[in-house]
Amino acid sequence: MGAYLAQQVIAQSEAAVEDSLVMRLRRAEVDGEELTDLEIVMFFGLLTFAGNDTTRNTAATGLRTLLEHPEALRELYEEPALIPGAIEEILRWTSVVQWFARTATRDVELGGRQIRAGDKLVMWYGSGSRDEAVFDDAATFDIHRPKPDHMAFGDGGRHFCLGASLARLELRVIFEEVLDRMKDLRSDGAAELVPSHWAYGLSKLPVAFTPGPRRGA
Ligand code: HEM
Repeated sequence: MGAYLAQQVIAQSEAAVEDSLVMRLRRAEVDGEELTDLEIVMFFGLLTFAGNDTTRNTAATGLRTLLEHPEALRELYEEPALIPGAIEEILRWTSVVQWFARTATRDVELGGRQIRAGDKLVMWYGSGSRDEAVFDDAATFDIHRPKPDHMAFGDGGRHFCLGASLARLELRVIFEEVLDRMKDLRSDGAAELVPSHWAYGLSKLPVAFTPGPRRGA
């Protein structure tokens, strides 16, 4: 993938393609400096894996969550208009990126703890998304929760997820289509977790369902 991207960066520059993401990055400046080829390729790499595992894992862990909450699943079958709200609760509940780390740039006191410049910190988004001080009944999966202020996409600072809107759109379309085409979805065996404390993902989620008709068939 890296080699392909590097080739695109060079090929598009040589062909002077005007309006592509590659060329926008080529023209971009950060603090008056252009990005190097390596930085452009690294950025595409980031887009590829930041936008891939995350949404895929949320689709799988979200479906698992619905199978574990049959009442919510039934409501979504009956009233697909509830899906966007359910996606927000799925994001809160699953928070598939469990943590990212930061290095403190200055001394600061946070929650009664002294943090020194240079200290390494781990921000547990999964924990923040279930903060009892923020959410009523934080340990209850509730698709009717009004706009949960979750941390699935990060802490809301300058590194807030670049793909949050795309992820929400993808997840809405995935769940609308899956629930429309796969009627009476049910669990058909034990789910298997990806062994990781950083990502919440599934390597296996056996399900059974009655297939609906193909569209246009
Ligand atoms: C459900 C899906 C997703 C989840 C749970 C998720 C989660 C996150 C989290 C927790 C961060 C770190 C925020 C921080 O450090 O404060 C992040 C950053 C980022 N995400 Fe996502 N993400 C998702 C989908 C996507 C998609 C679809 C894309 C792009 C196509 C994307 C691109 C990025 C990029 C480029 C960053 C780095 C932003 C920066 O450091 O400035 N993400 N994401």
